[in-house]
Amino acid sequence: MMDNNLMKEKILELKNKKNAIILGHYYQVPDIQDISDFVGDSLNLAQKAAETQKDIILFCGVHFMGETAKILNPNKKVIIPDLNAGCSLADSCEYEEFKKFKEKYPNHIVISYINCSAKIKTLSDIICTSGNALQIVNSLPQDQKIIFAPDKNLGGYINRMTGRNMVLYNGSCEVHEQLTAEYTLKMKRENSDAILIAHPECNDSVLQLADYIGSTQGMIKYVKESNHKKFLVATESGILHKLQNENPEKEFIVVTSNSTCACNDCRHMKLNTLEKVLYSLENEVFEINLDDETILNARKPIEKMLEISKKLNIIK
Ligand code: 13P
Ligand code: SF4
Repeated sequence: MMDNNLMKEKILELKNKKNAIILGHYYQVPDIQDISDFVGDSLNLAQKAAETQKDIILFCGVHFMGETAKILNPNKKVIIPDLNAGCSLADSCEYEEFKKFKEKYPNHIVISYINCSAKIKTLSDIICTSGNALQIVNSLPQDQKIIFAPDKNLGGYINRMTGRNMVLYNGSCEVHEQLTAEYTLKMKRENSDAILIAHPECNDSVLQLADYIGSTQGMIKYVKESNHKKFLVATESGILHKLQNENPEKEFIVVTSNSTCACNDCRHMKLNTLEKVLYSLENEVFEINLDDETILNARKPIEKMLEISKKLNIIK
């Protein structure tokens, strides 16, 4: 078997030869983050995908992220290392069911979290990420009726922060949903010198214990600017790579659901490996393909998100 350094060399060689860009999410294994041209949260990655001039986009994340890149680049080849890297949150919102759900609320606009399929995006008016959801909702008139899908936890958090009463679809992320207030409290007691940072995909009882709530990028920024030395981190374990690299003097502990495992891994994100990245680039697989109508209709709410985010100075 080829060693990691050799694989990394080959990946970089192939990437240049094929004029490809590698985009990686913070939840990817460290080796993949290290060979990515850009590592970011869902919002930054969507923006990078929208702006790239490269011929091939190799997206190291999960399926809906590859779809988003394809929607923004219909004429480019978008590949992902493993087609089985799905998302429990995206899977919790199925097209026909959501269509029926939407019909029950005729005067509402649909804001969908980017963690949904391309087909759900076609039923949406604006897409958001955890990095801009609050500001996007705040930018709409207070009396605007809104359906928020598919993440009930992020939606609930925004309802509480804005005093709105958005209709929430009943979806959630298995990685964040499994964290409990009881166990988080236990970890807090055992680490009384640490502060708790949490992703808004966590349920309300965990979020209530948090000192800071934000997207992966938000947490990274918060930690860098903080004077605290120790952090309990309530999100997927992959984020620790960046946190630890940027803040070698600070200590990070991932919040878990029980004592049997010290990590909180997303089984989908962690399907991607260095071997698969190399295979993917060598063979230009596995390609994301979407029909023209889906691309056309899914693109509008994503572009709306990017447009609002630029107007509000959330992205440049
Ligand atoms: P962000 O990177 O936008 O915070 O999203 C987290 C996530 O769950 C991605 O799947
Ligand atoms: Fe989906 Fe949750 Fe995994 Fe993110 S962490 S890809 S929301 S299952």
